[in-house]
Amino acid sequence: MPSTVILGTGSYAPERILSNAELSKMVDTSDEWIRTRSGIRERRIAAPGEATSDMAVQAAKRALLDAGLKADEIDLVVVATVTPDMLMPSCACLVQHKLGVPTSAACFDLNAACSGFVYALDTVCAMVASGRYKKALLIGVEKLSAVVDWQDRTTCVLFGDGAGAAVVGLSSEEGKGLIGTRLGSFGEGAELLHIPRGGTSAPSTPESIAARDHCIRMKGKEVFKLAVRAMDEAARDILEQYHFRADQISLVIPHQANLRIIEALSEYLELPMERFFVNVERYGNTSAASIPLALDEARRTGRIKSGDLTMLVAFGAGLTYGSALVRW
Ligand code: UT7
Repeated sequence: MPSTVILGTGSYAPERILSNAELSKMVDTSDEWIRTRSGIRERRIAAPGEATSDMAVQAAKRALLDAGLKADEIDLVVVATVTPDMLMPSCACLVQHKLGVPTSAACFDLNAACSGFVYALDTVCAMVASGRYKKALLIGVEKLSAVVDWQDRTTCVLFGDGAGAAVVGLSSEEGKGLIGTRLGSFGEGAELLHIPRGGTSAPSTPESIAARDHCIRMKGKEVFKLAVRAMDEAARDILEQYHFRADQISLVIPHQANLRIIEALSEYLELPMERFFVNVERYGNTSAASIPLALDEARRTGRIKSGDLTMLVAFGAGLTYGSALVRW
């Protein structure tokens, strides 16, 4: 049976670097606090006028080049994001138009927050495996700088902008590609990490905008504990389900929210930190972009070789979580 494989990856980060030192002039924080509590040293910020779809297109072009494909060969575009250019239409339709993907392609967005890329990988692979789609473009992208409260030191130091993309297709090579996924969600924890206003349950008012309630609000400590637990469970469950041991994983590509979360996962799974790809120090938390950005960097720096078994593992608003096993 043919398998669904990642044919190419690409990523994009805006040029503008916002350092911890600069942030400490904006809010009551310090480079030392940010580094020791999160591992983050700097993050990227989109240029004025640079939209989510613009970043997505840059990453997508690189993924297509890597896969040796042209935009007119794509028949499915899925964009995982919580920061689309606008609520309607989807970011995927804007990307389709900017890239020149044919009008016969299916295009839609998917919102699973920081777990978005893992959810989208599962969705896209199932659609391609069905035989109804041949070549899919899957993008995780965020412009979180647009929804961060720049006066809230508990969140504004954590997030950044960026994009990562992958091209998915079928392969007849035995044993390669997506082995399986494990997805889940704790909807009861929705308010631990959310954007309270601006949706249909509580539309923005002049007062709510003045209070910046259209920005990200997070109960960091609670989210931290749940993130470690859920990522550990998602990792263990998928290993058990597909009969692998943790030490058979050559590289884990975790969601990059906090270095301490990744270190805790390394300890719980008894896998050394060398088996985890980490770039949170340079980008901060880029939500749905974090795993594809890390995956692309891991591939480009030779951390993933043919035959390797990798695990993607994520956690985010929802509260969603997910893991995926991929053989290269
Ligand atoms: O991507 C989706 C998933 N998101 C995550 O996984 C994020 C999970 N949470 C975290 O990464 C961590 O909880 C944070 C990095 C957000 C915070 O780290 P923490 O060790 O849990 O710190 P805390 O929230 O308990 O805050 C400790 C202290 C507090 O002061 P008091 O109450 O002890 O006096 C905060 O007010 O640090 C203070 N604080 C800061 N100080 C300097 C909070 N933010 C800052 C700051 N600079 N930026």
